[in-house]
Amino acid sequence: MRTFNELESNVRSYSRLFPTVFKKAQGAILEDREGIKYIDFLSGVGTLNYGHNNPQIKERLLRYLESDGIVHGLDLATVAKEEFLEAFAAIILKPRQFNYKVQFPGPTGTNAVEAALKLARKITGRETIIAFSNGYHGVTLGSLATTAKASQREAAGIPTTGVTFIPYDGYLGADIDTTEYLDKVLSDVGSGVALPAAVIVETIQGAGGVNVASFEWLRSLEKVCRKHNVLLLVDDIQVGCGRTGSFFSFEEVGISPDIITISKSLSGFGLPFSLVLMKPELDQWKPGQHSGTFRGPNLAFVTAKAALEIYWQDDSLSASVKQKGTRMQLRLEQIAKNHWQAGFSVRGRGMIQGLDCKDGNLANKILRTAFGNGLIMETAGARGQVIRCLPPLTVSEETLEKGLNLLENIVNEVIQETGAKKIIEIGASA
Ligand SMILES: Cc1ncc(COP(=O)(O)O)c(C=O)c1O
Repeated sequence: MRTFNELESNVRSYSRLFPTVFKKAQGAILEDREGIKYIDFLSGVGTLNYGHNNPQIKERLLRYLESDGIVHGLDLATVAKEEFLEAFAAIILKPRQFNYKVQFPGPTGTNAVEAALKLARKITGRETIIAFSNGYHGVTLGSLATTAKASQREAAGIPTTGVTFIPYDGYLGADIDTTEYLDKVLSDVGSGVALPAAVIVETIQGAGGVNVASFEWLRSLEKVCRKHNVLLLVDDIQVGCGRTGSFFSFEEVGISPDIITISKSLSGFGLPFSLVLMKPELDQWKPGQHSGTFRGPNLAFVTAKAALEIYWQDDSLSASVKQKGTRMQLRLEQIAKNHWQAGFSVRGRGMIQGLDCKDGNLANKILRTAFGNGLIMETAGARGQVIRCLPPLTVSEETLEKGLNLLENIVNEVIQETGAKKIIEIGASA
């Protein structure tokens, strides 16, 4: 790791968690320079839903490059963009009877969130955005202001303003509906909470600890937004593109967001690509008003179209995500049951599942031991207390089972070791 330690900024993070040099990858398997293989339960934090180097998608990309297709084209009209737009409308929007205009912001998730927040403020003429406890929406200034974790916001060096945080579903306990609180403060001119331009919400908070909002809560949130004429912005960057079983994570909920952001697995191949979807009447941009050099990622248009055609023309991927997700949940619940003394619990939907270890140090130990044994995962939550499992949706049942077996053995090993240490420490201090 010497080159990285000497030459790369201190800001690097994943290479610290997984200190090896990766060389290649296929499907759900990563391989390092020494030829050591790792099962990937991280998938670029949900960016590789169809696996690393998906052969069918790669073939389309290679063919496009071979044909000297446009690679960079600002936001010019290109054949690749036209074909992507048509496929997205035909395969995703029309069958769901969704009516959205498509904006291509810069290629990262935070670019999409920035554009969405700016649009909401521009349309309504209001300054504030409502965001939620433990929410994560990116690290550029506008998005960062809606990201809850203080240590991340502090890095801005200036106050991150224009956002009011409200407790997410479950934050105040299972019996308290925090949308009632939101309704109350928006109804009362004495509450001190300004009428916002929009509410930005994740249906499942990924980085925040795999916190799953109930369908009732999300429906109630939509009602509150409608009642107060506030835009509903769903950030589907991490759990969209099939992670929960449907293309958008809110499809089963039955809500109709005004603005949607998607990115991560949208390109289907790990290429940077993001979209803002807005109801047609909200498309109040003036030409060039939100600009950027990299708004036409043509290679991503090609791979995204391929992914839509291969995986979203029928229900087979959705069905398999639901089945594998249930299997993951069952296996994690068994692990949690085995360690009920430590207070472990499980939450998730589809193929995003979290094992809450209650203790960030313990979760970190599990993560590092897993890496040493060929399994890559990440922690989530304010204290890093949740092990977040995000295997590729296309992972084989065999590899999924292998990864879950590894996780079970590692948790047992770490708990035994830390339990034994605690007994020694107690013995030493007695
Ligand atoms: C829900 C959500 N929104 C926004 C982002 C920011 O995306 P990016 O890291 O591509 O800027 C992320 C990244 O993890 C995310 O999970």
